Amino acid sequence: MMRRQVLVTGVSSGLGRAIAAELDEAGFDVWGTVRTEADAAALRRDGDRIRPVLLELTDPESVERAAGRLRSSGPLYAVINNAGAAVPTPLEHADPAMITELLATNVVGPLRLTQELLPALRQARHSYGDARVIFVGSLITAVPLPLFGPYALTKHALVGLTDSLRAELAPERIRVSLIEPGVFATRIWLRAHDQVLRLPRHRSDDRYRALLDAAPTVALLAHRYGADPAAMAAAVARALTRSAPPARQFVPGHARLVAAATRLLPTRVLDAGAAALGTDRGAAGLRALARRLLRLRRARGARQAARDRAREAARA
Ligand SMILES: NC(=O)c1ccc[n+]([C@@H]2O[C@H](COP(=O)([O-])OP(=O)(O)OC[C@H]3O[C@@H](n4cnc5c(N)ncnc54)[C@H](OP(=O)(O)O)[C@@H]3O)[C@@H](O)[C@H]2O)c1
Repeated sequence: MMRRQVLVTGVSSGLGRAIAAELDEAGFDVWGTVRTEADAAALRRDGDRIRPVLLELTDPESVERAAGRLRSSGPLYAVINNAGAAVPTPLEHADPAMITELLATNVVGPLRLTQELLPALRQARHSYGDARVIFVGSLITAVPLPLFGPYALTKHALVGLTDSLRAELAPERIRVSLIEPGVFATRIWLRAHDQVLRLPRHRSDDRYRALLDAAPTVALLAHRYGADPAAMAAAVARALTRSAPPARQFVPGHARLVAAATRLLPTRVLDAGAAALGTDRGAAGLRALARRLLRLRRARGARQAARDRAREAARA
């Protein structure tokens, strides 16, 4: 049987890379978007079967070119709108031009791409009985988080977008899902870490100092202790292979738990937690947590090494 074609955006790293590899493994013919020739060459060099397509989501012509390339390759069973970015900053200091660009990356570009790919998705619907569209959102739609306002507004937009698109395309059996990841260990957190360090820290009011002091630690913790992207890849693969994909799903377990808890807790409790991050005490608490997690990880590593040595000695 012919492998069904699917497109994953943002496969240069992180979740997109893991999703593309998992779908290839699951028997799909995977196209993956990257932004540079160097990343396209790296994909080819890695011996992956993933076929690179150049795509810059903020550039309408680039979106049109990438979609045209896909349309000329026959039926497309699924598009996974994974590529995305985050720019942490207090909303008070957020440059509107930056917000427009972030919306283009996380919302308008992915919508434009999906619009352009609908003819190829409709072809797949005729060949296979249905077709799929997945948007990658974020757990941030369930949790109020200071500094992540620009990112949160784009991911909240995806909730509305997917709700309407799901209803509009359901009669054609083009099924739309929103998968909202919790904290995964990817480069997005290292980028956030560096971006926070580059923010002007001492404006005249100095109002956000504690928050800006805590943010790099939070980003490093997320990068170090985030979930394995394989869990996200598995969820996407399930959403493509199940007869009834989820309309909206938080992934992995910790995200489902947090989302459920935030539905039960009163907003003022959540707000108090979020606001505490912006205090000196909150920042100190986070640093203490980071040190504790680090010690736990080192102790676990040392115990494992001791067990390995004992096993080696027993074998010798
Ligand atoms: N990791 C998490 O904890 C987490 C949590 C919630 C949601 N998410 C979402 O998961 C998705 C994947 O993120 P990730 O964690 O895997 O981050 P990542 O490692 O930084 O990957 C992001 C991908 O998107 C691409 N990209 C960024 N801006 C783009 C643009 N304007 N046009 C085209 N491609 C662009 C990047 O390409 P370059 O390499 O060229 O920059 C990269 O391939 C994002 O939508 C993110 O919001 C992640």
